[in-house]
Amino acid sequence: MMKNGMISKLAKNISPSETLKISAKAKELARSGASIISLSAGEPDFKTPAHICNAAITAITDGFHGYTMNTGMPELREAICKKLLQENRLRFEPSQIVVSNGAKQSIGFALLATIDPGDEVVIPAPYWVSYPEMVKMAGGVPVVAKTLFNNNYKLTPKQLDDSLNEKTKGLILCSPSNPTGACYTRKELKELADVLDNYPDVLIFSDEIYEYIVFDEEHTGILNAAPHLIDRTVVINGFSKGFAMTGWRLGYMAGPQEIANAVAKIQSQETSAPSSISQKAGLAAYTGTMKPVEEMRESFKKRRDYIVAALKSIEGIKCFVPSGAFYVFPDIHAFLGLKTPEGVTIETSTDLSLYLLEQQGVAVVPGDAFGEPDGIRLSYAASMDDLKEAIQRIKDGLSSLS
Ligand SMILES: Cc1ncc(COP(=O)(O)O)c(C=O)c1O
Repeated sequence: MMKNGMISKLAKNISPSETLKISAKAKELARSGASIISLSAGEPDFKTPAHICNAAITAITDGFHGYTMNTGMPELREAICKKLLQENRLRFEPSQIVVSNGAKQSIGFALLATIDPGDEVVIPAPYWVSYPEMVKMAGGVPVVAKTLFNNNYKLTPKQLDDSLNEKTKGLILCSPSNPTGACYTRKELKELADVLDNYPDVLIFSDEIYEYIVFDEEHTGILNAAPHLIDRTVVINGFSKGFAMTGWRLGYMAGPQEIANAVAKIQSQETSAPSSISQKAGLAAYTGTMKPVEEMRESFKKRRDYIVAALKSIEGIKCFVPSGAFYVFPDIHAFLGLKTPEGVTIETSTDLSLYLLEQQGVAVVPGDAFGEPDGIRLSYAASMDDLKEAIQRIKDGLSSLS
């Protein structure tokens, strides 16, 4: 037995990803023969478009096998800048872009590059599970700002103002949101920016990974609403969701030169650039046809419309129409405190999710994992047949509670 144990305080202090935990449990049950429909995964159920795959195959056969520049291939960073200018009306130089192994790494490294021990980072809840843990790994203190169902779980200027103080170093915004699918409007972002104007030392981390999956209005980031924040905003984006490229591990940050330099330094010592093959694929994604992206979006929209209507028809469930991503986050508060047919009380959203998984064979993620105990997250990145069957099972399961 080692005197102080093998594991660092940092590792002990970090929770494993709850979403990956539920997916793993669902897979385990499915392997043992149970009929499981998983609405728990955070990835599109599509394959990567063919022209992107072909670019990767060509990279392999052409021998594009070596390390690229640490911050990513110059052509890819140029394509990213062109995309940011044309689609988002944001002007960045290639030197301000760092391409990483997924947006997850981009956020993690951006936090490591900017957060000192004790610095506070405001995270609106419900939040993507990794944000608080990443802030902790950077030595910072996550400050969770609770938002309300009635405002589609979007942070209000007052909630933001109440969370900020002289220790605040950052704010993480995620729009479209994982886990709620909510998107901030330009007006809402402008109002948040007005509050941030009173706190000039606060950095904004704007996670826009679901940018291409928006249904009702054009994607708007905080820099569109408040361009003057460009000197203290880090835009995070990537290829996983819009192009169905989760396994390729490719994302990036665009931000102030000083932050990009610091992220590049960290990346050079931790991982170097992402796979050369994936970068070629990313280049094809940003320079090729967007038709497959549009088709995926259309398909997600149909499923969103179906699942929201179906959930709303279940007595006790409250659900708003999410404008983006591929998640719905209904309020299930009415079911907490009820008993299962076996007489077990459903105390929490985790209990409810486990009940739905074990008794009905539907995997969803409890809101507890996202800092919102009254919700559950359902991913509708699943076939329409599976969604219909899952809704029936959920309906049956919930109606058996008393
Ligand atoms: C909000 C949010 N940000 C970032 C990521 C990370 O994406 P990537 O696959 O690019 O690392 C995810 C993936 O689930 C996400 O939901």
